[in-house]
Amino acid sequence: MNSQLEMETLVSLCKRRGFIFQSSEIYGGINGFWDYGPYGIAMKRAIEKLWWSEMVETRDNVVGLDSTVICNPKVWKASGHLDQFGDMMTDCKECKSRFRVDTMDDPNVCPKCGSTQLTEPREFNLMMKTFVGPVFDEEHVAYLRAETCQSIFTDFHSVRIATRQKLPFGVAQVGKAFRNEINPRNFIFRSREFSQMEMEFFCFEEDCMEWYKYWKEQRVKYYHEKLGFSEDVLRIHDHDTLAHYAKAALDIEYKFPFGWGELEGVHHRGTFDLTRHQESSGESMEYFDQENKRKVIPTVIETSVGLDRTFLAVLCNAYDVDEASTQKEDKKHDIRTVMRFPAAIAPVQIAVLPLSKKLSETAEKVYKDLRSKYRSEFDVTGSIGKRYRRQDEIGTPYCVTIDFDTLDDDCVTIRNRDCMSQERISLSQLTSYFYDKLFIN
Ligand code: GAP
Repeated sequence: MNSQLEMETLVSLCKRRGFIFQSSEIYGGINGFWDYGPYGIAMKRAIEKLWWSEMVETRDNVVGLDSTVICNPKVWKASGHLDQFGDMMTDCKECKSRFRVDTMDDPNVCPKCGSTQLTEPREFNLMMKTFVGPVFDEEHVAYLRAETCQSIFTDFHSVRIATRQKLPFGVAQVGKAFRNEINPRNFIFRSREFSQMEMEFFCFEEDCMEWYKYWKEQRVKYYHEKLGFSEDVLRIHDHDTLAHYAKAALDIEYKFPFGWGELEGVHHRGTFDLTRHQESSGESMEYFDQENKRKVIPTVIETSVGLDRTFLAVLCNAYDVDEASTQKEDKKHDIRTVMRFPAAIAPVQIAVLPLSKKLSETAEKVYKDLRSKYRSEFDVTGSIGKRYRRQDEIGTPYCVTIDFDTLDDDCVTIRNRDCMSQERISLSQLTSYFYDKLFIN
Protein backbone atom coordinates (compact mmCIF):
# COMPACT_ATOMS: atom_id res chain seq x y z
CA MET A 1 0.00 0.00 0.00
CA ASN A 2 1.14 3.54 -0.68
CA SER A 3 1.85 4.92 2.80
CA GLN A 4 0.75 8.42 1.74
CA LEU A 5 -2.74 7.23 0.79
CA GLU A 6 -5.42 9.58 2.08
CA MET A 7 -8.96 8.32 2.52
CA GLU A 8 -10.29 11.22 0.41
CA THR A 9 -8.18 10.06 -2.53
CA LEU A 10 -9.61 6.56 -2.21
CA VAL A 11 -13.20 7.77 -1.82
CA SER A 12 -12.87 9.89 -4.93
CA LEU A 13 -11.31 7.05 -6.96
CA CYS A 14 -14.14 4.77 -5.84
CA LYS A 15 -16.74 7.24 -7.06
CA ARG A 16 -14.94 8.11 -10.31
CA ARG A 17 -14.38 4.50 -11.27
CA GLY A 18 -17.72 3.11 -10.13
CA PHE A 19 -16.69 1.13 -7.05
CA ILE A 20 -18.71 2.85 -4.33
CA PHE A 21 -21.15 5.76 -4.24
CA GLN A 22 -22.96 7.48 -1.43
CA SER A 23 -26.45 6.02 -1.08
CA SER A 24 -29.24 8.30 -2.46
CA GLU A 25 -26.66 11.00 -3.18
CA ILE A 26 -29.04 13.18 -5.25
CA TYR A 27 -30.97 13.77 -2.00
CA GLY A 28 -27.86 14.59 0.00
CA GLY A 29 -27.09 10.96 0.91
CA ILE A 30 -27.80 9.24 4.21
CA ASN A 31 -25.07 8.87 6.79
CA GLY A 32 -23.62 5.37 7.09
CA PHE A 33 -25.09 3.87 3.90
CA TRP A 34 -23.15 3.15 0.71
CA ASP A 35 -23.97 1.75 -2.74
CA TYR A 36 -21.58 -0.53 -4.61
CA GLY A 37 -21.26 0.46 -8.28
CA PRO A 38 -20.62 -1.91 -11.21
CA TYR A 39 -16.94 -2.53 -10.44
CA GLY A 40 -17.59 -2.50 -6.69
CA ILE A 41 -20.20 -5.25 -6.79
CA ALA A 42 -18.04 -7.35 -9.13
CA MET A 43 -15.19 -7.25 -6.61
CA LYS A 44 -17.42 -7.59 -3.55
CA ARG A 45 -18.94 -10.77 -4.99
CA ALA A 46 -15.49 -12.10 -5.86
CA ILE A 47 -14.30 -11.52 -2.27
CA GLU A 48 -17.40 -13.21 -0.90
CA LYS A 49 -16.87 -16.14 -3.28
CA LEU A 50 -13.25 -16.45 -2.22
CA TRP A 51 -14.23 -16.52 1.47
CA TRP A 52 -17.01 -19.05 0.81
CA SER A 53 -14.65 -21.29 -1.12
CA GLU A 54 -12.02 -20.99 1.63
CA MET A 55 -14.43 -21.57 4.52
CA VAL A 56 -17.13 -23.88 3.11
CA GLU A 57 -16.53 -25.43 -0.29
CA THR A 58 -13.02 -26.72 0.35
CA ARG A 59 -13.93 -28.22 3.75
CA ASP A 60 -15.97 -31.28 4.65
CA ASN A 61 -16.70 -30.08 8.17
CA VAL A 62 -18.22 -26.65 7.42
CA VAL A 63 -21.64 -26.17 5.81
CA GLY A 64 -23.57 -23.11 4.71
CA LEU A 65 -26.73 -21.28 5.73
CA ASP A 66 -28.68 -18.31 4.39
CA SER A 67 -31.12 -17.10 7.00
CA THR A 68 -33.45 -14.10 7.09
CA VAL A 69 -32.54 -10.56 8.11
CA ILE A 70 -35.66 -10.41 10.30
CA CYS A 71 -36.43 -13.20 12.72
CA ASN A 72 -38.52 -13.68 15.85
CA PRO A 73 -37.61 -10.78 18.19
CA LYS A 74 -37.23 -13.29 21.05
CA VAL A 75 -33.91 -14.25 19.40
CA TRP A 76 -32.53 -10.78 20.24
CA LYS A 77 -33.88 -10.89 23.77
CA ALA A 78 -32.15 -14.24 24.34
CA SER A 79 -28.88 -13.16 22.72
CA GLY A 80 -28.73 -10.13 24.99
CA HIS A 81 -28.82 -7.62 22.14
CA LEU A 82 -32.02 -5.92 23.28
CA ASP A 83 -30.72 -5.30 26.77
CA GLN A 84 -27.00 -4.87 26.30
CA PHE A 85 -26.10 -4.12 22.71
CA GLY A 86 -25.44 -0.43 23.04
CA ASP A 87 -22.97 2.37 23.42
CA MET A 88 -22.96 5.38 25.73
CA MET A 89 -23.38 8.57 23.71
CA THR A 90 -23.17 12.28 24.40
CA ASP A 91 -24.14 15.38 22.41
CA CYS A 92 -22.27 18.67 22.20
CA LYS A 93 -24.73 21.45 23.01
CA GLU A 94 -22.67 23.98 21.02
CA CYS A 95 -21.76 22.31 17.71
CA LYS A 96 -24.56 19.69 17.94
CA SER A 97 -22.19 16.80 17.17
CA ARG A 98 -22.80 13.36 18.66
CA PHE A 99 -20.08 11.07 20.02
CA ARG A 100 -19.59 7.60 21.43
CA VAL A 101 -18.17 8.23 24.90
CA ASP A 102 -15.69 5.34 24.65
CA THR A 103 -14.05 6.91 21.59
CA MET A 104 -13.44 10.35 23.19
CA ASP A 105 -9.99 11.23 24.55
CA ASP A 106 -11.64 13.30 27.27
CA PRO A 107 -15.34 12.50 27.85
CA ASN A 108 -15.87 16.07 29.17
CA VAL A 109 -14.56 17.89 26.07
CA CYS A 110 -16.12 17.96 22.59
CA PRO A 111 -13.53 16.50 20.17
CA LYS A 112 -14.87 18.71 17.37
CA CYS A 113 -15.17 22.23 18.85
CA GLY A 114 -13.52 21.89 22.27
CA SER A 115 -16.66 22.88 24.19
CA THR A 116 -17.30 21.41 27.64
CA GLN A 117 -21.06 21.84 27.21
CA LEU A 118 -21.91 18.16 26.74
CA THR A 119 -25.11 16.31 27.62
CA GLU A 120 -25.02 13.57 30.27
CA PRO A 121 -23.91 10.28 28.63
CA ARG A 122 -26.90 8.09 27.87
CA GLU A 123 -27.39 4.52 26.68
CA PHE A 124 -28.10 4.05 22.99
CA ASN A 125 -29.23 0.69 21.60
CA LEU A 126 -27.81 -0.14 18.18
CA MET A 127 -30.58 -2.50 17.04
CA MET A 128 -32.62 -1.21 14.09
CA LYS A 129 -36.34 -1.46 14.67
CA THR A 130 -39.14 -2.14 12.21
CA PHE A 131 -42.72 -3.52 12.26
CA VAL A 132 -43.98 -6.77 10.80
CA GLY A 133 -47.65 -6.85 9.75
CA PRO A 134 -50.22 -4.14 9.18
CA VAL A 135 -50.24 -2.63 12.69
CA PHE A 136 -47.39 -0.39 13.80
CA ASP A 137 -47.51 -1.03 17.55
CA GLU A 138 -45.20 -2.58 20.18
CA GLU A 139 -46.68 -6.04 19.61
CA HIS A 140 -45.51 -6.00 15.99
CA VAL A 141 -41.99 -4.70 16.57
CA ALA A 142 -39.18 -6.66 14.93
CA TYR A 143 -35.48 -5.98 14.44
CA LEU A 144 -33.06 -6.06 11.54
CA ARG A 145 -30.34 -8.48 12.60
CA ALA A 146 -27.27 -6.91 14.17
CA GLU A 147 -25.10 -9.93 13.42
CA THR A 148 -25.65 -12.87 11.09
CA CYS A 149 -24.60 -15.59 13.52
CA GLN A 150 -27.69 -15.78 15.78
CA SER A 151 -29.63 -17.84 13.22
CA ILE A 152 -26.72 -20.27 13.06
CA PHE A 153 -27.36 -20.93 16.77
CA THR A 154 -31.15 -21.11 16.50
CA ASP A 155 -30.92 -23.41 13.42
CA PHE A 156 -28.16 -25.55 14.94
CA HIS A 157 -30.16 -28.79 15.14
CA SER A 158 -31.92 -28.34 11.77
CA VAL A 159 -28.58 -27.88 10.01
CA ARG A 160 -26.93 -30.72 11.94
CA ILE A 161 -29.71 -33.23 11.25
CA ALA A 162 -30.05 -32.29 7.57
CA THR A 163 -26.32 -32.58 6.89
CA ARG A 164 -25.61 -35.50 9.32
CA GLN A 165 -22.66 -33.55 10.69
CA LYS A 166 -21.07 -34.71 13.91
CA LEU A 167 -19.07 -32.57 16.30
CA PRO A 168 -16.74 -30.87 15.49
CA PHE A 169 -18.29 -28.97 12.57
CA GLY A 170 -18.98 -25.42 11.49
CA VAL A 171 -21.84 -23.45 9.94
CA ALA A 172 -21.04 -20.42 7.80
CA GLN A 173 -23.15 -17.57 6.58
CA VAL A 174 -22.72 -14.36 4.56
CA GLY A 175 -25.32 -11.64 4.75
CA LYS A 176 -26.39 -8.16 5.66
CA ALA A 177 -26.32 -6.86 9.21
CA PHE A 178 -27.62 -3.54 10.49
CA ARG A 179 -26.48 -1.38 13.38
CA ASN A 180 -27.64 2.08 14.22
CA GLU A 181 -24.04 3.22 14.77
CA ILE A 182 -23.75 6.56 16.56
CA ASN A 183 -20.78 7.63 14.48
CA PRO A 184 -20.57 5.88 11.13
CA ARG A 185 -17.16 6.87 9.77
CA ASN A 186 -14.08 6.16 7.72
CA PHE A 187 -16.00 5.44 4.52
CA ILE A 188 -17.26 1.82 4.55
CA PHE A 189 -15.25 0.88 7.66
CA ARG A 190 -18.13 1.62 10.02
CA SER A 191 -21.51 1.84 8.36
CA ARG A 192 -25.08 1.22 9.42
CA GLU A 193 -25.81 -1.42 6.81
CA PHE A 194 -22.99 -3.83 6.07
CA SER A 195 -22.28 -7.47 5.26
CA GLN A 196 -20.71 -10.03 7.54
CA MET A 197 -19.06 -13.35 6.73
CA GLU A 198 -19.34 -15.48 9.85
CA MET A 199 -18.56 -19.06 10.76
CA GLU A 200 -19.53 -20.72 14.05
CA PHE A 201 -17.52 -23.85 14.77
CA PHE A 202 -19.20 -26.26 17.21
CA CYS A 203 -16.80 -28.49 19.14
CA PHE A 204 -16.28 -30.33 22.44
CA GLU A 205 -15.19 -28.14 25.32
CA GLU A 206 -12.01 -30.18 25.89
CA ASP A 207 -10.80 -29.48 22.31
CA CYS A 208 -11.86 -25.85 22.07
CA MET A 209 -8.49 -24.17 22.52
CA GLU A 210 -6.93 -26.33 19.83
CA TRP A 211 -9.67 -25.25 17.42
CA TYR A 212 -9.25 -21.63 18.50
CA LYS A 213 -5.56 -21.81 17.58
CA TYR A 214 -6.40 -23.63 14.34
CA TRP A 215 -8.89 -21.01 13.17
CA LYS A 216 -6.62 -18.14 14.14
CA GLU A 217 -3.84 -19.63 11.98
CA GLN A 218 -6.18 -20.41 9.10
CA ARG A 219 -7.55 -16.90 8.99
CA VAL A 220 -4.17 -15.17 9.18
CA LYS A 221 -2.85 -17.47 6.44
CA TYR A 222 -5.85 -16.55 4.27
CA TYR A 223 -5.07 -12.83 4.52
CA HIS A 224 -1.44 -13.37 3.60
CA GLU A 225 -1.86 -15.97 0.87
CA LYS A 226 -5.22 -15.19 -0.69
CA LEU A 227 -5.49 -11.43 -0.26
CA GLY A 228 -1.77 -10.67 -0.38
CA PHE A 229 -1.61 -8.64 2.86
CA SER A 230 1.99 -8.41 4.08
CA GLU A 231 3.20 -8.85 7.67
CA ASP A 232 3.51 -5.10 8.22
CA VAL A 233 -0.18 -4.32 7.56
CA LEU A 234 -1.66 -7.15 9.60
CA ARG A 235 -1.48 -7.76 13.33
CA ILE A 236 -3.21 -9.74 16.05
CA HIS A 237 -4.75 -8.00 19.00
CA ASP A 238 -5.44 -10.40 21.87
CA HIS A 239 -8.26 -9.13 24.09
CA ASP A 240 -7.17 -8.20 27.63
CA THR A 241 -10.67 -8.37 29.04
CA LEU A 242 -12.95 -11.23 28.14
CA ALA A 243 -16.69 -11.81 28.36
CA HIS A 244 -17.46 -13.98 31.42
CA TYR A 245 -18.11 -17.08 29.26
CA ALA A 246 -15.08 -16.65 26.94
CA LYS A 247 -11.72 -18.36 27.27
CA ALA A 248 -10.00 -16.33 24.57
CA ALA A 249 -10.66 -13.66 21.95
CA LEU A 250 -8.60 -11.82 19.39
CA ASP A 251 -9.01 -9.35 16.57
CA ILE A 252 -7.12 -9.51 13.29
CA GLU A 253 -6.35 -5.87 12.53
CA TYR A 254 -5.37 -4.14 9.30
CA LYS A 255 -3.31 -0.97 9.05
CA PHE A 256 -5.74 1.43 7.34
CA PRO A 257 -4.69 4.98 6.36
CA PHE A 258 -6.53 6.21 9.50
CA GLY A 259 -4.78 3.70 11.78
CA TRP A 260 -5.10 0.07 12.86
CA GLY A 261 -8.67 -1.21 12.67
CA GLU A 262 -10.43 -4.50 13.35
CA LEU A 263 -10.99 -6.64 10.27
CA GLU A 264 -12.04 -9.88 11.86
CA GLY A 265 -12.74 -11.34 15.28
CA VAL A 266 -11.82 -14.90 16.27
CA HIS A 267 -13.72 -15.53 19.47
CA HIS A 268 -14.30 -18.37 21.89
CA ARG A 269 -18.02 -17.97 22.66
CA GLY A 270 -18.22 -20.94 24.97
CA THR A 271 -21.69 -22.41 25.34
CA PHE A 272 -23.21 -18.98 25.92
CA ASP A 273 -25.40 -18.57 22.82
CA LEU A 274 -26.79 -22.11 22.69
CA THR A 275 -27.47 -22.07 26.44
CA ARG A 276 -29.31 -18.75 26.19
CA HIS A 277 -31.47 -20.02 23.31
CA GLN A 278 -32.16 -23.25 25.19
CA GLU A 279 -33.29 -21.34 28.29
CA SER A 280 -35.32 -18.84 26.31
CA SER A 281 -37.05 -21.17 23.82
CA GLY A 282 -37.41 -24.23 26.04
CA GLU A 283 -35.95 -26.34 23.19
CA SER A 284 -32.96 -28.50 23.98
CA MET A 285 -29.73 -27.39 22.34
CA GLU A 286 -27.84 -30.43 23.60
CA TYR A 287 -25.84 -32.72 21.39
CA PHE A 288 -25.60 -36.44 22.03
CA ASP A 289 -21.99 -37.62 21.91
CA GLN A 290 -22.40 -41.25 20.84
CA GLU A 291 -18.80 -42.22 21.48
CA ASN A 292 -18.80 -41.13 25.11
CA LYS A 293 -22.51 -41.63 25.72
CA ARG A 294 -23.06 -38.14 27.09
CA LYS A 295 -25.10 -35.04 26.31
CA VAL A 296 -23.26 -31.75 25.90
CA ILE A 297 -23.96 -28.21 24.82
CA PRO A 298 -21.32 -27.64 22.13
CA THR A 299 -18.66 -24.99 22.65
CA VAL A 300 -18.35 -22.42 19.88
CA ILE A 301 -15.34 -20.86 18.18
CA GLU A 302 -16.39 -17.99 15.93
CA THR A 303 -14.64 -16.31 13.01
CA SER A 304 -16.45 -13.11 12.06
CA VAL A 305 -15.35 -10.68 9.39
CA GLY A 306 -16.94 -7.70 7.69
CA LEU A 307 -17.19 -8.03 3.92
CA ASP A 308 -17.12 -4.26 3.52
CA ARG A 309 -14.10 -3.94 5.79
CA THR A 310 -12.31 -6.60 3.79
CA PHE A 311 -13.22 -4.64 0.67
CA LEU A 312 -11.76 -1.46 2.18
CA ALA A 313 -8.56 -3.24 3.23
CA VAL A 314 -8.23 -4.72 -0.27
CA LEU A 315 -8.65 -1.22 -1.77
CA CYS A 316 -6.03 0.29 0.58
CA ASN A 317 -3.64 -2.58 -0.01
CA ALA A 318 -3.97 -2.36 -3.79
CA TYR A 319 -3.59 1.40 -4.18
CA ASP A 320 -0.31 2.50 -5.72
CA VAL A 321 1.11 5.34 -7.75
CA ASP A 322 4.04 4.91 -10.14
CA GLU A 323 5.29 6.12 -13.49
CA ALA A 324 4.29 4.89 -16.94
CA SER A 325 5.68 5.87 -20.33
CA THR A 326 3.59 8.35 -22.28
CA GLN A 327 3.26 9.57 -25.83
CA LYS A 328 2.60 13.13 -24.68
CA GLU A 329 4.97 15.49 -26.51
CA ASP A 330 6.64 17.27 -23.62
CA LYS A 331 6.95 14.22 -21.29
CA LYS A 332 8.60 10.85 -21.16
CA HIS A 333 6.61 9.57 -18.18
CA ASP A 334 3.17 10.01 -16.72
CA ILE A 335 2.13 9.43 -13.14
CA ARG A 336 -0.30 6.53 -13.09
CA THR A 337 -2.62 5.33 -10.34
CA VAL A 338 -2.79 1.57 -10.27
CA MET A 339 -4.91 -0.76 -8.14
CA ARG A 340 -2.85 -3.92 -7.68
CA PHE A 341 -5.75 -6.23 -6.76
CA PRO A 342 -5.09 -9.97 -6.54
CA ALA A 343 -6.13 -11.29 -9.96
CA ALA A 344 -8.74 -13.67 -8.52
CA ILE A 345 -10.81 -10.81 -7.05
CA ALA A 346 -10.13 -7.98 -9.52
CA PRO A 347 -13.46 -6.59 -10.78
CA VAL A 348 -12.26 -6.94 -14.37
CA GLN A 349 -9.70 -9.67 -14.92
CA ILE A 350 -9.09 -9.13 -18.64
CA ALA A 351 -9.75 -6.10 -20.85
CA VAL A 352 -9.83 -6.66 -24.59
CA LEU A 353 -8.65 -3.55 -26.43
CA PRO A 354 -8.59 -3.38 -30.24
CA LEU A 355 -6.10 -0.75 -31.43
CA SER A 356 -8.55 0.45 -34.06
CA LYS A 357 -12.34 0.31 -34.46
CA LYS A 358 -11.67 -1.56 -37.71
CA LEU A 359 -10.45 -4.48 -35.59
CA SER A 360 -13.63 -4.61 -33.49
CA GLU A 361 -15.07 -7.69 -35.15
CA THR A 362 -11.98 -9.84 -34.51
CA ALA A 363 -11.57 -8.37 -31.02
CA GLU A 364 -15.19 -9.03 -30.08
CA LYS A 365 -14.79 -12.72 -30.91
CA VAL A 366 -11.79 -12.90 -28.59
CA TYR A 367 -13.70 -10.97 -25.92
CA LYS A 368 -16.79 -13.20 -26.05
CA ASP A 369 -14.66 -16.29 -25.66
CA LEU A 370 -12.79 -14.87 -22.65
CA ARG A 371 -15.95 -13.43 -21.11
CA SER A 372 -17.44 -16.91 -20.75
CA LYS A 373 -14.60 -17.86 -18.37
CA TYR A 374 -13.25 -14.68 -16.79
CA ARG A 375 -14.61 -11.28 -15.76
CA SER A 376 -13.81 -9.39 -18.96
CA GLU A 377 -14.44 -6.01 -20.52
CA PHE A 378 -14.32 -4.72 -24.09
CA ASP A 379 -13.17 -1.15 -24.74
CA VAL A 380 -12.60 0.47 -28.07
CA THR A 381 -12.92 4.14 -27.11
CA GLY A 382 -9.99 6.57 -26.84
CA SER A 383 -6.24 6.26 -27.24
CA ILE A 384 -4.63 3.01 -26.11
CA GLY A 385 -2.65 4.94 -23.46
CA LYS A 386 -5.84 6.34 -21.93
CA ARG A 387 -7.48 2.92 -22.03
CA TYR A 388 -4.52 1.38 -20.18
CA ARG A 389 -4.68 4.15 -17.53
CA ARG A 390 -8.40 3.49 -17.04
CA GLN A 391 -7.86 -0.26 -16.66
CA ASP A 392 -4.98 0.41 -14.23
CA GLU A 393 -7.33 2.39 -11.99
CA ILE A 394 -9.96 -0.34 -12.17
CA GLY A 395 -7.17 -2.77 -11.29
CA THR A 396 -7.41 -5.01 -14.39
CA PRO A 397 -4.41 -7.37 -14.22
CA TYR A 398 -4.27 -8.12 -17.96
CA CYS A 399 -5.09 -6.21 -21.14
CA VAL A 400 -5.29 -8.09 -24.42
CA THR A 401 -4.49 -5.82 -27.34
CA ILE A 402 -5.59 -6.70 -30.87
CA ASP A 403 -3.63 -5.00 -33.66
CA PHE A 404 -3.50 -5.32 -37.45
CA ASP A 405 -0.83 -8.05 -37.22
CA THR A 406 -3.39 -10.17 -35.37
CA LEU A 407 -5.29 -10.56 -38.64
CA ASP A 408 -2.23 -12.23 -40.17
CA ASP A 409 -0.49 -14.10 -37.35
CA ASP A 410 -3.44 -14.91 -35.00
CA CYS A 411 -1.44 -13.50 -32.08
CA VAL A 412 -2.36 -10.82 -29.51
CA THR A 413 -0.32 -8.71 -27.10
CA ILE A 414 -0.86 -9.23 -23.38
CA ARG A 415 0.00 -6.28 -21.21
CA ASN A 416 0.69 -6.95 -17.54
CA ARG A 417 -0.76 -4.32 -15.17
CA ASP A 418 1.95 -4.53 -12.52
CA CYS A 419 5.17 -4.44 -14.51
CA MET A 420 3.64 -3.11 -17.74
CA SER A 421 5.56 -5.76 -19.68
CA GLN A 422 4.08 -6.97 -22.96
CA GLU A 423 4.21 -10.40 -24.52
CA ARG A 424 2.86 -11.82 -27.71
CA ILE A 425 0.68 -14.93 -27.43
CA SER A 426 -1.08 -17.07 -29.97
CA LEU A 427 -4.88 -16.86 -29.81
CA SER A 428 -5.10 -20.63 -29.45
CA GLN A 429 -3.14 -20.46 -26.16
CA LEU A 430 -5.05 -17.56 -24.65
CA THR A 431 -7.51 -19.40 -22.41
CA SER A 432 -4.91 -21.72 -20.93
CA TYR A 433 -2.47 -18.80 -20.51
CA PHE A 434 -4.93 -17.14 -18.13
CA TYR A 435 -6.08 -20.24 -16.31
CA ASP A 436 -3.20 -20.44 -13.80
CA LYS A 437 -3.03 -16.70 -13.39
CA LEU A 438 -6.67 -15.96 -12.64
CA PHE A 439 -7.72 -18.84 -10.40
CA ILE A 440 -5.92 -19.04 -7.10
CA ASN A 441 -7.91 -21.75 -5.39
N1 GAP B 1 -20.93 -12.15 15.68
C1 GAP B 1 -19.84 -11.38 16.21
C2 GAP B 1 -19.85 -10.01 15.78
O1 GAP B 1 -20.76 -9.53 15.12
P1 GAP B 1 -18.43 -7.82 15.82
O2 GAP B 1 -17.01 -7.59 16.26
O3 GAP B 1 -19.46 -6.89 16.35
O4 GAP B 1 -18.75 -9.32 16.17
C3 GAP B 1 -17.74 -8.67 13.46
O5 GAP B 1 -18.48 -7.77 14.23
C4 GAP B 1 -17.15 -7.96 12.25
O6 GAP B 1 -18.17 -7.28 11.52
C5 GAP B 1 -16.11 -6.90 12.60
O7 GAP B 1 -14.83 -7.44 12.77
C6 GAP B 1 -16.19 -5.99 11.38
O8 GAP B 1 -15.36 -6.49 10.35
C7 GAP B 1 -17.64 -6.11 10.96
N2 GAP B 1 -18.42 -4.94 11.44
C8 GAP B 1 -18.93 -4.76 12.67
N3 GAP B 1 -19.59 -3.58 12.74
C9 GAP B 1 -19.48 -3.01 11.52
C10 GAP B 1 -19.94 -1.78 10.96
N4 GAP B 1 -20.68 -0.92 11.65
N5 GAP B 1 -19.63 -1.50 9.66
C11 GAP B 1 -18.91 -2.38 8.93
N6 GAP B 1 -18.44 -3.55 9.41
C12 GAP B 1 -18.72 -3.87 10.68
